[in-house]
Amino acid sequence: MKILITGGAGFIGSHVIRRFVQNYPNYHIYNLDALTYAGNLENLKDIENFPNYHFVKGNIVDEDFIITLFDENNFDGVIHLAAESHVDRSIEDPLAFVRTNIIGTVNLLNAAKKIWNDDFVGKRFYHVSTDEVYGSLGQEGLFTEETSYNPNSPYSASKASSDHFVRAYGETYKLPFVITNCSNNYGPFHFPEKLIPLFINNIIHNKPLPVYGDGKYTRDWLFVEDHARAIDLVFHKGANHQTYNVGGFNEWQNIDLVKLLCKVMDKKLDRKDGTSENLITYVRNRPGHDLRYAIDATKINKELGWEPSVTFEEGLELTVDWYLSNSDWLNHVTSGDYKEYYKKMYS
Ligand code: NAD
Ligand code: DAU
Repeated sequence: MKILITGGAGFIGSHVIRRFVQNYPNYHIYNLDALTYAGNLENLKDIENFPNYHFVKGNIVDEDFIITLFDENNFDGVIHLAAESHVDRSIEDPLAFVRTNIIGTVNLLNAAKKIWNDDFVGKRFYHVSTDEVYGSLGQEGLFTEETSYNPNSPYSASKASSDHFVRAYGETYKLPFVITNCSNNYGPFHFPEKLIPLFINNIIHNKPLPVYGDGKYTRDWLFVEDHARAIDLVFHKGANHQTYNVGGFNEWQNIDLVKLLCKVMDKKLDRKDGTSENLITYVRNRPGHDLRYAIDATKINKELGWEPSVTFEEGLELTVDWYLSNSDWLNHVTSGDYKEYYKKMYS
């Protein structure tokens, strides 16, 4: 099996690559990544010399490059994670999200359709998507696979569009696809522009913790390795032309999560309880901020037996430990451009 995994140098992609390279020595795993600000080959240092791992630097927006890559390799499967993934950046620059998330996805679909040439036996296009395509929940209810799409940010609109294209290629050209829509991930190698790693980094440096709005916005958090395990399962056992929701059954209001993180950090850093909580600062709300996401993961549980393997408290402690013992990684990714980004978004 030759499998193309896109976005493998990013947060979730690096966990997926590591899992596939280590668990399937007979597969050849190709990691296609443009190495944007979010892509980092340091995330894959431990497996970079495995004989079944191959890195290809390239941009999914480049149509000719993608067609040539597929022509030369005849991949059996594609697991597509490459994306612009940060909501706040999408508010600043929506077109970047249109290019990568929509055009990039269509380029990959076209290339797969071309090389597979209607011979779809054993082939699969796996599109990794997000629960944000469903929009925002009120205080009640969960997102199921039947919930209508109602994206509210340029990021979620671009992901919703890419999901529609994948499904349309399934209907129109019979391309065998599967889509998963997952809730918020956290864990090692998470770029510190997202809530949990940003706040860990700020606590380390005694910087303010910028909570958007009143902090009562709710997310459903899943440890990243549990997402990688779900992707493995769906890639191998999921039914074609299906969507599976993936989530942690683990809802937290931002402010409660931040207070828990502060407690864990105070303990780990040997600081007086309450030290980190004093850094909490309420700031201007994110425009169009979705109130609540929560996934009903019954289908993947019933059909494929998947469920989260770690509790949030365990996962958060593992995550904090990882950041505290990988200060080199954190220092590398927060030098250079990151400083400009931070100034622009938070000053
Ligand atoms: P990330 O931003 O950490 O990584 C994205 C990766 O894609 C990076 O390595 C980057 O270099 C690469 N990339 C970006 N543009 C590219 C391009 N044009 N060509 C080739 N490579 C490119 O993202 P992530 O958080 O790991 O998310 C991965 C996927 O999972 C995304 O599709 C995202 O929508 C989805 N997702 C993320 C979450 C989450 O909580 N992070 C939850 C559900 C779904
Ligand atoms: O739900 C899945 C999605 O989760 C993924 O599709 C996205 O790629 C991923 O980035 C994530 O999106 P969110 O917008 O939910 O994640 P983020 O970490 O940016 O924000 C989480 C919550 O914390 C959200 O309610 C906004 C809030 N927040 C975030 C930041 C960065 C703050 O209060 N302050 C901040 O500085």
